[in-house]
Amino acid sequence: MAKTGMFVSLDIGTSSVKVVVSDFVDGQGTIIGVGNAKSSGVNKGLIVDIDKTVVAIKRAVAQAEEKAGIKINAVTVGLPANMVEIEKATGMIAVHSQSKEILDDDVRNVAAAALVRNIQPEREIINIIPQSFTIDGLDGIQDPRGMRGVRLEMEGVVYTGPQTIIHNVRKAVERAGLAVQELVVTPLALMEAILDDGEKDFGATVIDLGGGQTTTAVMHDKQFKFAHVNQAGGDFVTRDISVVLNASNQNAENLKINYGIAYSAMASQSEVFPVDVIGKVDPVNVDERYLSEIIEARYVEIFEESKEVLGRISALSLPGGIVLTGGAASIPGVVELASEVFEVPVKIYVPNHIGIRNPAFANVIAISDYYANLNDIYHLAQAALTGRVSTQVKAASKVAQQQAPVQQVVQPQQPAQNIGAVDVATQQNYYAQAAQQYGDNEESKPSKVGTKLKGWANKLFD
Ligand SMILES: Nc1ncnc2c1ncn2[C@@H]1O[C@H](COP(=O)(O)OP(=O)(O)OP(=O)(O)O)[C@@H](O)[C@H]1O
Ligand SMILES: [Mg+2]
Repeated sequence: MAKTGMFVSLDIGTSSVKVVVSDFVDGQGTIIGVGNAKSSGVNKGLIVDIDKTVVAIKRAVAQAEEKAGIKINAVTVGLPANMVEIEKATGMIAVHSQSKEILDDDVRNVAAAALVRNIQPEREIINIIPQSFTIDGLDGIQDPRGMRGVRLEMEGVVYTGPQTIIHNVRKAVERAGLAVQELVVTPLALMEAILDDGEKDFGATVIDLGGGQTTTAVMHDKQFKFAHVNQAGGDFVTRDISVVLNASNQNAENLKINYGIAYSAMASQSEVFPVDVIGKVDPVNVDERYLSEIIEARYVEIFEESKEVLGRISALSLPGGIVLTGGAASIPGVVELASEVFEVPVKIYVPNHIGIRNPAFANVIAISDYYANLNDIYHLAQAALTGRVSTQVKAASKVAQQQAPVQQVVQPQQPAQNIGAVDVATQQNYYAQAAQQYGDNEESKPSKVGTKLKGWANKLFD
């Protein structure tokens, strides 16, 4: 059942850390507080300096606390999709009680059975999401509790991610004095929150154009099927402007925000503005078309990469088309340019909340929407992963409320039983890749760290 209560979400982005406090009544949220603090310590979507990230989190949280008039103790945190893997998970148990009526414990136990799997030592399970249950061969059951049977089976999905990324997020949040109520894979929350039922069912793509990375994610059959992370975003556009025009990064950012157009065919050559150029005393005149051509080139490159990966999994012609969001989707002409590149219907998503009608807030709002709408079955299954007991699961839905004790939601992330180490020789080596990225000064060359579906989604759009 959708929740009622106060929920706080946190989105740790490359450009800024965002916090929203939402007051939910039956799953419908009203935003009562917002925080937005400039990031440092985050590079290409990933935390690279915990201390600096903590400062930004504290600032954003303090702003949101002041506006909402509450003390924030716990947050639902978005995790970037970098190297997240989605795997099918199935489990089966004998029903526990003598009456053979299925209880909360059985749901938890069948989820625990579904969690039994081999996982590489550098990876961690983030979430288990039940999709349907089967009782004695009768399938398609959404909530088996109260029903009777001998054998209970569960089908769902498990999200795993690199321990380093997950650890850094947890550590930064906890050092900022907050409890991690839940980790949520951001593009999953985003798609759940912004796509309508038809788009989720028949299929749609959401492209989150952030500052440091662009995430292309696909939903189909009401399930998160695919995500690809391109570690290039709006900040690359700014850097391109800075390099080409010989302007400071701040001037380049201002030019982009004030005069930028993503589709050069919409820009005018007669519209001219002065630009402060490094090493020159007098400003140099630059026309709108020229600036737009610089911007367009980077957006085209970003879109071409998304197009290529979507083409590879036959997801380009999904009926829901493409939805653009994220801060870098604010630029005029972005829909026109994307429509030309993708050759499918494209629209932009802008949150419809007073004061934050800005696509940069789409993710953070989606995270609290998503969490508030998670049902008891999800929480019971997740309890099999985290070791929460059912009463605590219920308490977890209220933790964002004023004065909620932090201990209420700090649960150790225990690995599910029988999760063991397997050979990682064939896996991408995250550490080597990270070292390469962070040591790489050639910033304008985006590196590619994708999100993998373990085989099963690749043929789904044929
Ligand atoms: N009006 C605008 N025109 C063009 N770009 C914009 C505009 N407003 C914001 N941006 C760009 O949006 C980007 C920030 O977007 P967002 O806040 O979604 O990123 P983030 O979540 O902090 O980063 P990431 O998701 O990549 O880690 C910056 O590159 C910024 O320049
Ligand atoms: Mg972002």
